[in-house]
Amino acid sequence: MFGREEALRALREAGCSREVIQHSLAVERISLGFARRIHASGHKLDPRLVSLGALLHDIGRARTHGIRHGVEGAKILRGLGLSKFARFAECHLGAGIPAEEARELGLPARDFMPRTLEEKVIAYADKLVMEHRVTSYERALDWFRSELGPEHPAIDRFKALHREIQKMAGFR
Ligand SMILES: [Fe+2]
Repeated sequence: MFGREEALRALREAGCSREVIQHSLAVERISLGFARRIHASGHKLDPRLVSLGALLHDIGRARTHGIRHGVEGAKILRGLGLSKFARFAECHLGAGIPAEEARELGLPARDFMPRTLEEKVIAYADKLVMEHRVTSYERALDWFRSELGPEHPAIDRFKALHREIQKMAGFR
């Protein structure tokens, strides 16, 4: 069965750096923390999918650290027969990218929004891990504002994702 060891091996074999692997392990840890709380609050999600999706979400960084690393990661995963995890790579950038923005960014003109609980948890946890250090929501929000400008629609998407996860996790 494809498990954590196999996922970590896939990252190494794809050519991911030590830094990317450290980051992915940190995203896995944070994602599982949210997943446990969300599960305890009565929502259904698959912790194995969260764990493996988090480990594999940045596999595309073996090819590029640019905006395309999500779609490149999905291609790598599909090529490995791991299509089940491809959307974790495609939909983790920002708090998801709608089709119109994807087209403007030169990505395939389709929707890259996280839809499932597992996809949302991983996209969110990824924003709270800078390299392999955990940061706060407020600092992540500041990062969005300074990188994208204060009016970018991605900021409202991140705020909405934050509210949704916090509510499901029973934090408020
Ligand atoms: Fe990423």
